[in-house]
Amino acid sequence: MNNREQLYHELNLRLPALIEGESNPVSIMSNACALMREVMGERFFWVGFYVVEDDHLQLGPFQGSVACYRIAHNRGVCGTAWAQNTTLVVSDVEEFPGHIACSALSRSEIVVPICDNAGTVQAVLDIDSREINAFDETDKNGLERLASILAQALYS
Ligand code: SME
Repeated sequence: MNNREQLYHELNLRLPALIEGESNPVSIMSNACALMREVMGERFFWVGFYVVEDDHLQLGPFQGSVACYRIAHNRGVCGTAWAQNTTLVVSDVEEFPGHIACSALSRSEIVVPICDNAGTVQAVLDIDSREINAFDETDKNGLERLASILAQALYS
């Protein structure tokens, strides 16, 4: 395992214990953000959740600088990941058409859908970095594992 794989291993070992016995979505998402920042540090410049609410994504628990409240379906990286129900890794946000710039410091990002048992997206996990090209397959695998742990706790 490389260093980042080890960090994801640690993250995904600690998460189930952290959220066990809790059912409040805001509390679970809040502590998940805190854990991700604790384990991943400054690499995760912004980490948080947008939750599906009717026809848009609504800002949920996060750590980082202030962010936009609502994202329309199929807009920005988050709205596109929701519409396509797929993880999006964006190595340079300036090259993503329609990217929503909440902070000029964000240069790359990864967005992972969180689905209920029926496979319907209920929320997305959005992580931004100040570095170009910060996220790759290791992050995708680690964060999709994390998303499935959260999906179990939140939506099953
Ligand atoms: N990057 C997102 C917007 C949310 S902020 O980065 C916190 C997007 O384009 O979907």
